Amino acid sequence: MCGIIARISKDLSPIKTLKGLKFLEYRGYDSYGVLLHKLGSDEVVSKNISELSEFELDRLSKFESNVEIGHTRWATHGGVTKENAHPHWSCDKKFYVVMNGIIENYLDIKSDLKNCGVEFNSETDTEVLPHLFSKYFKDTGNVENDLLLTSKRVFEDLKGEFSFVVKYENCILAYKNINPIAIGVCDDELFLCSDSGLVQNNSDKFYVLNDGEVLVSSISENNISSHFYCDFKEFSPEFKESVKSECDDENSFPTYMEKEIYDQKNLRSIITSENLSSIKYLKNALRNGRKLVLTAAGTSYHAAYVMHYELLKHGIMSSIILASELQNYTKVISDSIIVVLSQSGETADLIYPLRELRDSNEIFTITNTANSTLARFANRIILLNCGREVSVASTKAFSAQVFVSHLLNYELCGKEINDDLTFYENEFDRFIGNCLNILDDVCEKFYSAPDCFFIGRNEFHPFALEGSLKLKEVSYIHAEGFAGGELKHGTLALITDGVPVVVLGNCDEIVSNAIEIKTRGGVLIGVSSVENEVYDYFVKVPEVFEDIFGTIVLQLLALKMAERLGLNPDKPRNLAKSVTVK
Ligand code: AGP
Repeated sequence: MCGIIARISKDLSPIKTLKGLKFLEYRGYDSYGVLLHKLGSDEVVSKNISELSEFELDRLSKFESNVEIGHTRWATHGGVTKENAHPHWSCDKKFYVVMNGIIENYLDIKSDLKNCGVEFNSETDTEVLPHLFSKYFKDTGNVENDLLLTSKRVFEDLKGEFSFVVKYENCILAYKNINPIAIGVCDDELFLCSDSGLVQNNSDKFYVLNDGEVLVSSISENNISSHFYCDFKEFSPEFKESVKSECDDENSFPTYMEKEIYDQKNLRSIITSENLSSIKYLKNALRNGRKLVLTAAGTSYHAAYVMHYELLKHGIMSSIILASELQNYTKVISDSIIVVLSQSGETADLIYPLRELRDSNEIFTITNTANSTLARFANRIILLNCGREVSVASTKAFSAQVFVSHLLNYELCGKEINDDLTFYENEFDRFIGNCLNILDDVCEKFYSAPDCFFIGRNEFHPFALEGSLKLKEVSYIHAEGFAGGELKHGTLALITDGVPVVVLGNCDEIVSNAIEIKTRGGVLIGVSSVENEVYDYFVKVPEVFEDIFGTIVLQLLALKMAERLGLNPDKPRNLAKSVTVK
């Protein structure tokens, strides 16, 4: 999951590209790289194993430039080093490339190129691209056509799924496969990047490249020309009017994770006529006995699990499949509604199998990202409308997804949700204020604990999974979430004196599990609408939306643990916001 950005413009200020590169750090922050080029001057390249610092951004913004390409990296092939940061270039420094994805046969290509005398500077798969372009390029004087024909020959050597931008002199070529590239145009400028929202905020019109499509664009003294190709046949794309989204980069909180936890007060933005229509459609389809598959990854998988339990209350069975396992089911799922939950809409584990599944099933995407790949795959969409989620740790998108399940549940019950939603909104600030002190105590007691367990039964089981994921991904404390009833089938062996266990929900059976844990020395943190003397720490949660209020407690606990350990919850080690590689 890397970020790609490029600009061709008569405007000589590269600030749009530089600020865009900062924005794309959510897609990968192992390293950054950017190339600036003013026609007639030498290229300027800056790359480092860090974020693009404000100092370096300011320094680079003083250069004049007509053509830029940039990249934020989440390492797949080759360690986190400056040499492995993009862009990569050919030996003659004519071809520069930034890429997102994986070239599966790069080692064979690299070996062949080395045998031809090519010297490599990095361990990456990407670096074979500029050398291949250099190897096959034939200069006939028509730079756009020459670059296009060269790319056709280069593709013959490559295996894998990737998107990239190659720059040669005053020309760029962009190719898209799986990993997103959106193109924006405005007066005398073409701007492209991995994030369609960013493109729309910086362009009058935009177009999202489809798999296999190529853009070639060049700038001369007089104008900028751009041509689009599919299977190397030129076509005219249908540009859409850009929709500006709020630039919520202003963050008055210490971290985006904290800001986004508090953003959860606003679930009401999901209640749009389009979303309600889609929920009614889903309700009717389920009432008519349509087969249902729920699929997602990570936190979104936990939200899918919540939907599974909500539907069970109505006697509706759904198959729930992890995104990374979905490819095993492509031959056995048909005539179903496949509900796909994905905050980014770009999770590769979902995109690959759904490219096949969408032919024989109805795709129903629940996402926070309009115009994302999974949104464009869908027959029906529910947009979470919860604003850009920056922190790698997903919080508000999760609650929004859970709220969609509640909307579906209320629709199936024929109940109105407004009163409960109003209660939630009115209670939100008071509730958080009341639980912070308890969470401070729990954090101080357990921030150095080697392990932490989360248990919940039935509809609270997914929240135990989610609570453990939040804690481990931002604090690096080993955490495990599971169904309370599973304790005695093995995990109870890990409960010894002082081991913290978070207990969710209020049924008698979970209290029994809590007592079993207590008997063996575990320390209990109860998060429930029903108090019980068995708990050592207790956070009382309203009965209305008990699961969402409970999740907020777990999110705040994870955030506090990360802060106590001096960690940045927005950019945890080894992770990135959107997993666009399998
Ligand atoms: C959640 O905190 C993680 N960042 C991760 O599990 C995430 O939920 C998962 O990668 C799925 O992402 P998606 O919702 O964008 O598909």
